[in-house]
Amino acid sequence: MSSSAKKTESLRSYRWYGPDDLRSFGHRSRTKQMGLHREEFLGKPVIGIINTWNEMNTCHTHFPQRVQDIKRGVLSAGGFPVELPAMSLGEQLMKPTAMMYRNFLAMEVEELLRSYPIDGAVLMGGCDKTTPGVLLGAISMNLPCIYVPGGAMLRGHWRGETLGSGTDVWKYWDERRSGKLDTNSWLEIEDGIARSPGTCMSMGTAVTMMSISDALGISLPGASSIPAVDSNHNRMASLSGRRAVELVWQDIKPTDILTDQAFENSIKVLMAIGGSTNGIIHLTALANRAGISLDLEKFDRISQGIPLLANVKPSGAYVMEDFYFAGGLKSLMKQMEKNLNLDTLTVNGKTLGENLEGAEVFNEDVIRPMENPVSSNGGTAVLRGSLAPDGAVIKPTAAEKRLLKHRGAAVVFKDIRDLKARVDSDELEVTADSVLVLQNAGPVGGPGMPEWGQLPVPKKLLDQGIKDVVRISDARMSGTSYGACVLHVSPEAALGGPLGLVRDGDQIELDVEKRRLDLLVPESELETRRNQWKPPELKAGRGYARIYIDHVNQAHQGCDFDFLQGIPGETSEPDIY
Ligand code: FES
Repeated sequence: MSSSAKKTESLRSYRWYGPDDLRSFGHRSRTKQMGLHREEFLGKPVIGIINTWNEMNTCHTHFPQRVQDIKRGVLSAGGFPVELPAMSLGEQLMKPTAMMYRNFLAMEVEELLRSYPIDGAVLMGGCDKTTPGVLLGAISMNLPCIYVPGGAMLRGHWRGETLGSGTDVWKYWDERRSGKLDTNSWLEIEDGIARSPGTCMSMGTAVTMMSISDALGISLPGASSIPAVDSNHNRMASLSGRRAVELVWQDIKPTDILTDQAFENSIKVLMAIGGSTNGIIHLTALANRAGISLDLEKFDRISQGIPLLANVKPSGAYVMEDFYFAGGLKSLMKQMEKNLNLDTLTVNGKTLGENLEGAEVFNEDVIRPMENPVSSNGGTAVLRGSLAPDGAVIKPTAAEKRLLKHRGAAVVFKDIRDLKARVDSDELEVTADSVLVLQNAGPVGGPGMPEWGQLPVPKKLLDQGIKDVVRISDARMSGTSYGACVLHVSPEAALGGPLGLVRDGDQIELDVEKRRLDLLVPESELETRRNQWKPPELKAGRGYARIYIDHVNQAHQGCDFDFLQGIPGETSEPDIY
């Protein structure tokens, strides 16, 4: 952050528009092609609005209107707004997984901001991977920017019951598979579960990422909790546009905000909201891009002792609308302020402590006080052991308690196709004590580490009334999911990690309290299997999938590309305009 305000001539966009030469003539005349006067853009902060909208990302259907709100804010503060559409990552409809394209979006954002005459940015995200995607790119470019969270959709409804995105789908799908829910009811749920624009309204990855961005201080305080279709959301968007212009003049950059202390805050908030396990991967990638080392040990240390305060599905009972009306994220952070670094700078120019002044909780069942949490342990535990030498994670609050210390025989599926073909077979040799193992679903093996980690409970067990079993994979799981699912096992099976060596009948031990995950097979036997092991055939021969497989790092490193690491703002600016 510079101590003095910027001058017009020092605006980045001035290099394109300012000089009296042939190139700048071209830049000005072609901008005037839009019917503008030179006074409307020359010498003004040019604010790029990164809009992750398309009609296949149904969570972002309100973004075209929000862009107008943001533009209104930019103009009212004396800036020049330009909309820059970027790849939209629709979690539901992109295959094999939107996660594979997070780094694609990050690269696109970084290069849009670099190659055009942009002074500052408003980053629009919400649906799961869009938030880390836009932030990763913006951090690496390190221009002044503010994040506008898309907000969650309205609550789901079915026959007087509140439905939570994802969470209740899994629940009723299991009922349908076991023949307890008829077709008509299933179709009614389909009509009632997604009632408006906005992201999933359980504590899934979308709300998790919006909330922890808010906790990092890169959005206006409390912005993450505003429902997508509430008029407060329009006002927040417009204020964010205004603020983007001020950030340029004050030269406040992402690295001024995204400090070690800010990441500590966001990890603690991740625990207190019972956030998605995906949050760990994205936070790790974001921290590393910001030049801050964050590994699973540090993550585990910071998160110890933080209770779960947000009583929101899947770990709790309510949905995001309730959370907003109970006071939202600011009120939750106020409850735990003794655990937070209150001196961190946030994007509105104030400290976190200043932002939390006066925040109140209006419903103590939805946002619990520290002395009456939903659970005394926060949302996620990091595991280590012979089955996961580089780590794995589990969300204990979403699992049946009896399974958090468990030993059982492995039932192994070599990939997702094998799982789909056999999981509901009557021939499957499985009991309530079995440990289901899915191999080759990691960053390289998936590819893209799809959300296959909530392996379905075999029909044979569902018919016996068993709803949860221990499941282990190198995949991820939707934040709206639940169950005793050990995820992100690293190194992954497709790279020869121990997970790829597990065979049917092997004993596996999970002990969440001791943070252990062990494969109880003698090392000599594992060595024999290691020598016999052959890597799976990977399908990507060319294009982006090829880049992904060749360059993605492992889950415990954030699944970023090796060539995107580096110091923020380090890659050279264009030097000829
Ligand atoms: Fe977009 Fe869940 S599908 S947030």
